[in-house]
Amino acid sequence: MQALAILLRAVLLPVVLAIAASGSTPGAAQAQSVNPTKNAVSEQELLQRENSIRGLGKIPDTKSYTLEQPAGRDWRHFHEVTLRWIGAVAILGVIVLLVVFYLSRGMVRIEAGRAGRTIVRFNAFERFVHWMTAVCFVILALSGLNITFGRPLLLPMMNPESFTVFSEWAKYAHNFLSFPFTLGVVLIFLMWLGGNLPTRVDLEWLKRGGGIIGDDHPPAYRFNAGQKLIYWVVVLVGGAAAVSGYLLIFPFYGTTIATMQQAQMVHSIVAMLFIAAMLAHIYIGTIGMEGAFEAMGSGAVDLNWAKEHHSLWLEEEGARGRTAPSQPQPTIVTGQ
Ligand code: HEM
Repeated sequence: MQALAILLRAVLLPVVLAIAASGSTPGAAQAQSVNPTKNAVSEQELLQRENSIRGLGKIPDTKSYTLEQPAGRDWRHFHEVTLRWIGAVAILGVIVLLVVFYLSRGMVRIEAGRAGRTIVRFNAFERFVHWMTAVCFVILALSGLNITFGRPLLLPMMNPESFTVFSEWAKYAHNFLSFPFTLGVVLIFLMWLGGNLPTRVDLEWLKRGGGIIGDDHPPAYRFNAGQKLIYWVVVLVGGAAAVSGYLLIFPFYGTTIATMQQAQMVHSIVAMLFIAAMLAHIYIGTIGMEGAFEAMGSGAVDLNWAKEHHSLWLEEEGARGRTAPSQPQPTIVTGQ
């Protein structure tokens, strides 16, 4: 009996060990990957190995099973650090440049003085579209900047309740004004496309510094190269802001969390550059150039202003019989 036991141990033990060893092979392979249900797995280890940590759920919206995803931390770093730097450098940089430029160059004056006679430059509809888009832009910019900078800049100066109420209203304004803003960008595109296609005259205008640097008056049609640049920024950058913004307003229509993070990055970077570009536009339309604001204010500009800044346009208007600058007249107010 004892001999049988010894025999069984001698024969069976290696067999049992072999089975155990072969059974442990998949286990060893599993040890390479992470078992999220194992108690001792650290969160850090999981985040390094997995794209996202997902739980189990029963509701149909499977996106909600995602508990953590490392890309969210990268995105948060972009939002709280990188974007703030991009915004601050772009916006403050342009403000500093404009102040330096204004202090060294001053306002571009109408060299020949005012003629005292005017010509219509933008009709009522064009001015309405411009101001509708501009007002929406300013509110979109301020309400958007509140999302980026409000917490570090405004919150310390306000009580938290007021900041919450302000931010909530700002967010509503941002969402709802996006619609008239987009309409404005589309109308601007259609309304002024004809005058904003590049021509040879633009090269000459650029070579001569546009008359802004120095006291030159290079010829230009209705829009000079600088204005054309602003037009295309509004159309292309405004268009990019709108498309990326709508991807965020209407989440998960063909987007995932990852693509929405990308849309947010595009939207916010584009917005900062847009604000910087528009600051330059606002500068030249107000304190940067005498007589420019009137074009979008009353719609009519002084004839000498038109002669100095848009001589070819003035000739065209004359040829169309819309004005006769050479004939002395008290005030010429013509329609487009
Ligand atoms: C059709 C136009 C637009 C739409 C649909 C739109 C939509 C949005 C949405 C949904 C957000 C995210 C808000 C949130 O995180 O709660 C946002 C953020 C933002 N938007 Fe717009 N937007 C538009 C135009 C603009 C324009 C023209 C500007 C600037 C001039 C702008 C500047 C910003 C900024 C700075 C942010 C904050 C970025 C951040 O810190 O996350 N947006 N926008």
